[in-house]
Amino acid sequence: MLVDKLAALLAAPALALADLSGPWPPGALAIPSVAALLLPAVRDRLVRLARTVITYTAIVLLPRSPAEVIDLLYRGCRRDRVPLLRRDLVCTARELRKELEHPAGHSTDPDPRMSQGTFTFLFSLDDPAQWKPRRTAISSATPAMTARAHADTTAFVPPPGHRDLYRDLTAHTLGSAFRIVFGRPPTTEELHRLRPGIDDINDMVKNRSLRPRDDLRQRTWHETSRLIDAHLDDPRFLFHADPHFAALDHGARIDVAGADLLQSITVQTADLFGHMLLLRHEHPAAFDHDIDAAILETLRLHPLSDSLFRTPDQGNPWLASLVMVHRHNWPEPDRFCPTRWRHTPRRALAVYSAGPRTCPSFKVSEIIATRMLHDLHQRGIRITPHPRLRHERTFYFGLPATITHHGTPSAHRPPRLPTARLWARRYAARTLFMARKREIW
Ligand code: HEM
Repeated sequence: MLVDKLAALLAAPALALADLSGPWPPGALAIPSVAALLLPAVRDRLVRLARTVITYTAIVLLPRSPAEVIDLLYRGCRRDRVPLLRRDLVCTARELRKELEHPAGHSTDPDPRMSQGTFTFLFSLDDPAQWKPRRTAISSATPAMTARAHADTTAFVPPPGHRDLYRDLTAHTLGSAFRIVFGRPPTTEELHRLRPGIDDINDMVKNRSLRPRDDLRQRTWHETSRLIDAHLDDPRFLFHADPHFAALDHGARIDVAGADLLQSITVQTADLFGHMLLLRHEHPAAFDHDIDAAILETLRLHPLSDSLFRTPDQGNPWLASLVMVHRHNWPEPDRFCPTRWRHTPRRALAVYSAGPRTCPSFKVSEIIATRMLHDLHQRGIRITPHPRLRHERTFYFGLPATITHHGTPSAHRPPRLPTARLWARRYAARTLFMARKREIW
């Protein structure tokens, strides 16, 4: 592996200095034997240090997501995990699944500090102790959520024109999320009050903004709080008479309805659908033939979360690139090939995590996204991505596209592609974001 060769090279001068195998003065026989014992440990530590420096320097310098950089550096590696200085790099889906399904040292509670913990709605509510009751409430509501997602008939009809389709996607998926949670369509004012905080979190995750806008998130938080209070006695409310939801304190209720449901449904579904659209543009038959396999393959190539990391009670902290574990050791890893899912068990896909903290409600996104594709097809709506748009890890610059209804051309001007200023902002935002999440130390 290239990284290991470079690491050995970097560590070599220090090892040469510490080379204790030379001639020893008489009477000092005890020292070389201690040195001989210590040398492998010193060498191991130096190689880890060098590997860490190479990995994180590449992550900081290259204009790619951390998961992509790890994939670039380590895809050829033969080991299940590679030790860095402060954590291990989990390299294969098999090893990742083992870690997630049997977290070391947790007899009852797996590690509460999940990667996603930093994306909460208001940072003040990021209380790890609350995960279990929150999760119980969400899991018990999931069958009702999937039924509502299936029953939702509000069609996705983006107006014709050239523009950033990503905004249309989140507008539609926020509407779906609202209908699922509150059992009725939102008013324009409600959407107006909810959307800014959700967009702000999404803008940070997509490296579009440099720092969180607490004022916007506060507004979304207050609106969610108001909506919950107004719907507690409404039988259409997803958590109406739900004992698990009723047992939560006020803050946790807002986090469940707002961050865990409205936010997740809106963003995860928009992202999933965006990736599906771009792939469908190149492989229409695959999507028409077997949409479920096409979704699995979409997620394998474009896992919505970049990486997963944990600090278990026992054993080393670890980090896994979801891009790498779904390509490393896979035949033709970079090719979109839904037919591979005929012979591959679904559990080979770890994009939803696994084990006790696996995503409880991913099906909701799959149902809504499938429906959205169907809507476009039924209404003769054609979406052509901007010809120079690159299919990246995520929608850093939105999804510039041309939308035509029954072939009607649009009179608007084509959308602009990102400028150097936007690239620079993205780079700065990404590095700041990683530093804040303590990913780079
Ligand atoms: C394709 C769509 C989705 C993907 C790929 C996805 C992925 C994930 C992943 C990877 C995690 C674990 C994060 C970690 O271990 O650090 C997670 C957790 C979670 N997801 Fe999803 N998700 C999706 C859709 C959804 C939807 C639609 C909802 C809500 C309806 C949702 C709600 C949650 C919640 C509440 C958790 C935290 C679970 C806990 O605290 O134990 N996700 N998701």
